[in-house]
Amino acid sequence: QRPLRRLLSCPGTVAADLRREEQSSGSAETGSEDRTPKKRFSEVQNERREQAQRTVLIHCPDKINEKKFLKFLSQHGPINSHFFYESFGLYAAVEFCQKESVTSLQNITRTPSLGPEAAIPFKSRYLNLKLRNSLNQTSELSSIQCSNQSSPSSKKLYQLLCCAESVDDQLNTLLREFQLTEENTRLRYLTCSLIEDVAAAYFPDCAVRPFGSSVNSFGKLGCDLDMFLDLDEIGKFTAQKTSGNFLMEFQVKNVPSERVATQKILSVIGECLDQFGPGCVGVQRILNARCPLVRFSHQASGFQCDLTTNNRIALKSSELLYMYGALDSRVRALVFSVRCWARAHSLTSSIPGAWITNFSLTMMVIFFLQRRSPPILPTLDYLKTLAELLLKEFFEYFGNFAFNKNSINIRQGREQNKPESSPLHIQNPFETSLNVSKNVSQSQLQKFVDLARESAWILHQEGKDRPSPSSNQPWGLAALLLPSVANNMSLSKKKKKPASERIKNLLDSIKSSGAENSTATNGR
Ligand code: CTP
Ligand code: MG
Repeated sequence: QRPLRRLLSCPGTVAADLRREEQSSGSAETGSEDRTPKKRFSEVQNERREQAQRTVLIHCPDKINEKKFLKFLSQHGPINSHFFYESFGLYAAVEFCQKESVTSLQNITRTPSLGPEAAIPFKSRYLNLKLRNSLNQTSELSSIQCSNQSSPSSKKLYQLLCCAESVDDQLNTLLREFQLTEENTRLRYLTCSLIEDVAAAYFPDCAVRPFGSSVNSFGKLGCDLDMFLDLDEIGKFTAQKTSGNFLMEFQVKNVPSERVATQKILSVIGECLDQFGPGCVGVQRILNARCPLVRFSHQASGFQCDLTTNNRIALKSSELLYMYGALDSRVRALVFSVRCWARAHSLTSSIPGAWITNFSLTMMVIFFLQRRSPPILPTLDYLKTLAELLLKEFFEYFGNFAFNKNSINIRQGREQNKPESSPLHIQNPFETSLNVSKNVSQSQLQKFVDLARESAWILHQEGKDRPSPSSNQPWGLAALLLPSVANNMSLSKKKKKPASERIKNLLDSIKSSGAENSTATNGR
């Protein structure tokens, strides 16, 4: 009943919701409302990559006759899907059924002559459509329905959250509004594919693969696009091809270390993107970082991109998170809410610095779920009833975590003594000597703890007195995300008791309810 009511109450999102329902492979049997990934990670990556290779990105005039546009393109072969979006102009991503159609289209595409300026010829799949005789066509032009690539405004989000039924419902609403859409995901793979074309000029057979939140199922609309240049196919040695006593090797240049090799490769690819990459602007080569990278904006897609190489482990950790996210849709709902909460309070930032990262936050949520009693993610029904409770308990758990002496270890699902003195220590599950949150300062950690306690308090109060829907007052998650409202609410409800006393009360209430809860949850 719930999805139906939601569709009726929010007409603007009907089509998108229906599409998502269709795509949700798990929805029929589980009744789950959001898109829970069920395919294997490598399967998804390969399918999406192949799809992107059959796709072209076209900058269009602001007004265009969609039917005629598609008819024109289908001269080169049948079109499988297409969508339009806006990003400083109108763009179309058009997926052909066959790869050959792309080549056919490229063959009738010309390199522009720009008057006094000179063009660097490069046959990419990022094209520009012009109207031959715009005056004659004006009457046939129409506005195009665009797919939205950005997250909802705070105003819309608060409206949606406030008209939800329960905190559980709010968590799912937030997930639905912020998760990457089908179109946005396609655009991410397409952007990687376009960059791969540039890199392939130097390294034929290379692959550029997205990783991080674009593919780990925890990405929010607007998140950066992490990509890595995979040269493994080139370096791969196939034993079957050799025979007899002879062994053939390529002549190569040797450098002192893997790191130097990585820096050299990224340096030259960065140069290429800067000089010849259509639509790549603001290219920065950050080669002395622990993980050397090239950072740039891809103008046409609007993505901020970080390109690395020799970074297979990051792809593995994306797969690990993807699997955790696939275990149950509540995991993603919880991660999204915690990420949004952290962003709303400036605990995280898009600028690198001493703050906690989304990746660290996700690890904390997973750890928290592992430490619950029972410790592994249980059945869907069980989690469904707990979803509301989970957010509050997440805040309580980390509001009281012994960060000063313990490290978070999701490899073993338990806390350990910290091996070094960083304020926040989260062991990298694959490179176990590394701390994922080495950058986080004591004051940022303290801010996290304080806000977690404050938010636990708000959710705790929530159970007691919720404002009536007609009062239009933010409550639950909505109250947690609004910095000013969060403060006001907590102050008014606590009748302005000093902070120390509020925290003491909270701790007392957690202690007593913690004892009740552990027996209650074990008993279920
Ligand atoms: N990563 C890592 N160790 C770190 C930081 C990052 O292994 N200390 C890997 C993780 O696989 C992470 C990816 O690099 O998912 C990308 O990092 P980042 O962009 O910081 O995080 P995302 O998970 O992509 O989240 P966001 O939406 O904030 O970009
Ligand atoms: Mg990222």
